[in-house]
Amino acid sequence: MIKMLKVFFKFCSPKRRRQFYLAIVLTVLMGLCEAAKLPAIWYMFKNIFEGTFDLKTVLYSFLIMLIPVVISIGLKYAATMLQVDGGYSSAAEKRIEIAEHLRYVPMGYFNNNSLGYITSVTTNTMEQLADIAARVVMLVTTGLIDTLIVVASLFFFDYRIALVALVGVIIYLVFNEWIKHLGKKFAPDKEKVDVEIISATLDYVLGISEIKSYNLYGKYSKRFNEANERGTKLYQNCELKMIPVQTIQTYITRLIGICMTIVAILLFINGYNDLAVTMTVIIASYIIYASLDAMGTFSALSKIIERCVEKGNDILSIETMNISGEKYQTKTSDIEFKNVSFSYDKKKIIDNLSLKIKENTKVAFVGPSGSGKTTICHLMARFWDVQEGSVLLDGKNVKDYNIDSLMENFTFVFQNVYLFNDTIYNNLKMAKEDASMDEINKALKLACCDFVNDLPDGVNTIIGEGGSTLSGGELQRLSIARAILKDSKIVILDEATANVDPENEEKLMKAIDALTLNKTVIMIAHRLKTVKNCDNIFVIDGGKIVESGKHDELIREDGIYKRFVLDRKEAVGWKI
Ligand SMILES: Nc1ncnc2c1ncn2[C@@H]1O[C@H](COP(=O)(O)OP(=O)(O)OP(=O)(O)O)[C@@H](O)[C@H]1O
Ligand SMILES: [Mg+2]
Repeated sequence: MIKMLKVFFKFCSPKRRRQFYLAIVLTVLMGLCEAAKLPAIWYMFKNIFEGTFDLKTVLYSFLIMLIPVVISIGLKYAATMLQVDGGYSSAAEKRIEIAEHLRYVPMGYFNNNSLGYITSVTTNTMEQLADIAARVVMLVTTGLIDTLIVVASLFFFDYRIALVALVGVIIYLVFNEWIKHLGKKFAPDKEKVDVEIISATLDYVLGISEIKSYNLYGKYSKRFNEANERGTKLYQNCELKMIPVQTIQTYITRLIGICMTIVAILLFINGYNDLAVTMTVIIASYIIYASLDAMGTFSALSKIIERCVEKGNDILSIETMNISGEKYQTKTSDIEFKNVSFSYDKKKIIDNLSLKIKENTKVAFVGPSGSGKTTICHLMARFWDVQEGSVLLDGKNVKDYNIDSLMENFTFVFQNVYLFNDTIYNNLKMAKEDASMDEINKALKLACCDFVNDLPDGVNTIIGEGGSTLSGGELQRLSIARAILKDSKIVILDEATANVDPENEEKLMKAIDALTLNKTVIMIAHRLKTVKNCDNIFVIDGGKIVESGKHDELIREDGIYKRFVLDRKEAVGWKI
């Protein structure tokens, strides 16, 4: 238990730790108040058995008992408030710390499995921690402290009975530790099943439209149902195994009481103690086992706290990218790749690639699917660190920038847009905290977002999670309005106009023109018309530049580019 407290306190921020320390001090005082009952009881019995029991002794005994009770109610209130606040605030602070930490974790970490795990830790685990920590730390410490104080005060009455109680408490604590270890055995399986349930739920919910359109109910609901069934079985099995040992634990507390009573009676019969001491000790045995019971019931949960803390720390120890770079205001937006090689795992995706993109030019990356176009763009904004070579922005290695000042330079427009479940106004303001209403309206106009005026609350309309209440085209134009507000020097368009219907396309192109005016523009697999006008086209194949130049130059060579153009010339949406 001491280990659990240590681990938990280390996990909390210093402020919360102080709250818990204070709560424990209050708990010790509560224990002393609890122990004050014993002298009162003894005083009462003594007077009864000596025949001096009168109104005065009743009043004294009553006061000796009442005053600690009143004080202890106040203490309990204060200690509970401290612990509840400490527990919930610690969990909230950790969630924020995890979210902050994840900002600096390479993007490669985020896949379906890790998303399930992160979601499970930030929701389930932190909730459990807040809930259990707020109660368990209190109940367990109160139970143990009360017990120890009562045992200590028994030494004032009779050391032999106190020793019996002490041995009993030690046996109980050893048994309790064993139960906790037993509980720990199930913990890894429980966690696995929890992550599986969350991952299956995410898959089911996020992929619901695919599941519907491909009629995959059977397949995906099977995974979801199986995960749930496994979870139920495991939790039931764990409870069934724990019940018998927990019952034995309860009997140990009863046994301590019985032993103390027998020893007290034997000592009385043999004339070692008077009746007042004997009766007081018997009552003390009940107090001890009530406190131990309270502690035992909740101490099994203390292992859960340890595991929750471990899991929180696991995420916080995921290696981040070195973020010690400086805040740097770029003067130009020149980009250069010098002999860059990069792989996600073992397979090389970018192979000794060198290129230069001059400020305010428009370049395009074209090439087969999987050739590494998106990866190259991600490396520019340091979504990952390259393994060999260097990526420079304004002549400075991107690793030497602090992440925020690097990201200020880039705006990404993807085919799939994510907007938050908030008002349009707030979604746009995210790009520029101090944007005025005029600026927002201007950006909306430039991005052809006239549909906003027809919404019931205009810019104050709340769009559903992920922007689910708007059409794909509308979402994309909103994301461009947001990008226009951000006004960064470099705009990266990754298949932004793929799969857009002709009606939307005209508006989208107008919006993109507004966004890319006087910017360094990097586009991937764009329309032929736009690619044709680029200052430079890089043809990527197998993570290498196989051709580069303007459209007119490339089309004259008999290479991949020419073949692609000829193949797709007739296509409306020119996508490679
Ligand atoms: N997060 C990732 N982890 C592991 N491998 C990845 C990851 N992202 C991409 N890859 C792999 O890297 C290779 C290059 O991917 P990339 O997305 O850069 O290609 P692309 O040229 O943009 O393709 P497309 O035209 O289909 O978008 C692919 O083989 C892809 O499977
Ligand atoms: Mg791509």
